[in-house]
Amino acid sequence: MTDQTTPDDLAPSPAFSAHANGTADLYAQADADFEGFWARQARERLTWAKDFDQTLDWSNAPFAKWFVGGQLNVAYNCVDRHVEAGNGDRVAIHFEAEGGDDFGSRALTYADLQREVSQAANTLESLGVTAGDRVAIYLPMIPEAIVAMLACARIGAPHSLVFGGFSSEALKARIEDAAAKVVITADGQYRRGKALPLKPAVDQALNGVESVEHVLVVRRTGGEVAWNERDLWWHETVETAADTHTPQPMDAEHPLFILYTSGTTGRPKGILHTTGGYLLQSAYTNSIVHDLHPETDVYWCTADIGWVTGHSYIVYGPLANGATQVVYEGTPDTPHNGRWWEIVEKYKVTILYTAPTAIRTCMKWGHEIPEKYDLSSIRVLGSVGEPINPEAWRWYREYIGAGTAPVVDTWWQTETGAIMISPLPGVTTLEPGSAQRPIPGVSAEILDDEGTPTHDPESVGYLVLTKPWPSMLRTVWGDDDRYRETYWSRFGPKYYFAGDGAKYDEKGNIWILGRVDDVMNVSGHRLSTAEIESALVLHDRVAEAAVVGATDETTGQAVVAFVILRQGASHEGDDNTAIVEELRAHVAKEIGPIAKPRTIMVVPELPKTRSGKIMRRLLRDLAEGREVGDATTLADSSVMNVIQAGLGN
Ligand code: WTA
Repeated sequence: MTDQTTPDDLAPSPAFSAHANGTADLYAQADADFEGFWARQARERLTWAKDFDQTLDWSNAPFAKWFVGGQLNVAYNCVDRHVEAGNGDRVAIHFEAEGGDDFGSRALTYADLQREVSQAANTLESLGVTAGDRVAIYLPMIPEAIVAMLACARIGAPHSLVFGGFSSEALKARIEDAAAKVVITADGQYRRGKALPLKPAVDQALNGVESVEHVLVVRRTGGEVAWNERDLWWHETVETAADTHTPQPMDAEHPLFILYTSGTTGRPKGILHTTGGYLLQSAYTNSIVHDLHPETDVYWCTADIGWVTGHSYIVYGPLANGATQVVYEGTPDTPHNGRWWEIVEKYKVTILYTAPTAIRTCMKWGHEIPEKYDLSSIRVLGSVGEPINPEAWRWYREYIGAGTAPVVDTWWQTETGAIMISPLPGVTTLEPGSAQRPIPGVSAEILDDEGTPTHDPESVGYLVLTKPWPSMLRTVWGDDDRYRETYWSRFGPKYYFAGDGAKYDEKGNIWILGRVDDVMNVSGHRLSTAEIESALVLHDRVAEAAVVGATDETTGQAVVAFVILRQGASHEGDDNTAIVEELRAHVAKEIGPIAKPRTIMVVPELPKTRSGKIMRRLLRDLAEGREVGDATTLADSSVMNVIQAGLGN
């Protein structure tokens, strides 16, 4: 591999540009007439049952309404219209089971999808689910997850996906917050070659929950499950239901889904997305950024359906565009480290969208592994979820993209719903490690501490969005005040504050530098320090806890916890191995294995300011093995010495 890519290599090739969906003139069009631009995109890309009268109503800012008066059905746009256009035989989903063909790998065409989604919609309706009712979905990466989401969209019942790796406690909190009427789950899931139970977590979560009337259970692993009166098998209900269903048009602002994400407090926020604007921007960006050509491409996004990337770039964007895509159930190393590349070769994947943490893991395994497979089908590579370091960027392009495929580093959030800042692969001269510039129709600025936009190269500031955008969150479910306070108060009401630090370089590229709040990013998953701290102090041996995200070579950040044990729980000089393991397991139980601290340090004190605020900066220094910085604002400046002495530093 050449360690320096020459600038010429980073400009799009004329052959690529000639067929690219995203063209340079889009920037000028959007700048000249912002609303007109989005209105045109909406009319060209989506099929409306009733055209809209007004593109944007921002009179009640920060509560936006897009495509006012318009009506459409999301499932119709993602499925039926492709069948009507004569593409019913096109494969929508190549489902690759973790264990391969003997474990249920199958292809679903758009016609299959139309039948299955109709069956699921009929079943939900027969269970009394009507427009506006919430449905919680707690499923592994199997086609039924996509079918379930589309069935909800079809009948206007907002879904709330809960990642299958979350614990029953986390699931319960989400089911309760949304007051879900139905839960859709599976008996179990395959993970690293093992069949693991899933339904017991639902049974436990539903203890004392009144809103849930039915649990619909997909049989995935065939494991034994306990059965309750409210439970129904998917194969006895959905698979026997009528396979036609007439989609009802929904208002453009009808709620499409709630997706919980971590904030700076212990309570996750239910991010609410609605119908028209969300579908438009996910389809638009999948077209212009991933450069999806539905007739010829085989697209693969490796995210889990339980995160926003799975919502926008497995389900809604690609299906609205009529894509053929791979959906993979398992992990990259099951049963061997070349599994992903074997899948790329098998399906001749042309567009791959994944996360930096996965790329760094593959780097660690060595380029000999992808080199064993034919990856020549790849023509576009995407990255999402965290900053991608230039080294990983170059490796990705060199060994996965044959040194020529454009790499698009896409910045966005659960809240933004779709890609906001990214190069366009047929237009932009790439800059490894930078998300570069807002896509056409989106506007961003970097503000200094006073809230003034700065364009000075290398001056670090706060990333904000300066105009509403179609796929923006509409509110925090049930908490308009939290919506206003979290996103529109720091620099508001004019600017949406994203929570990320950023800077420009001398070429005008935006570099995203990571969160500036108490949110961590571990393997591209958002975790809140406060949420893990609350979980830790629930343990009866923990008196106090402080959590920080420490830099980690592979996962970007890693969770490091500092805990003070209750009196009598430990003695000086005690070996804390047992309690540390117990606490790690406790966090996994309370939140899920993704939140398990990498390191737990038992300390006698925590560094606090006079007002009692924990100084995480100092703890981060400790966690990263650095010399501890300025500690003069501590209430007791000797505390850091006491902590360090205890840790043997
Ligand atoms: C981070 C994931 C740098 C960022 C789609 C953001 C990124 C948070 C990038 C949102 C990127 C996402 N470069 N940082 N290309 N993409 N982030 O809600 O800190 O899970 O605020 O959405 O991930 O995470 P979320």
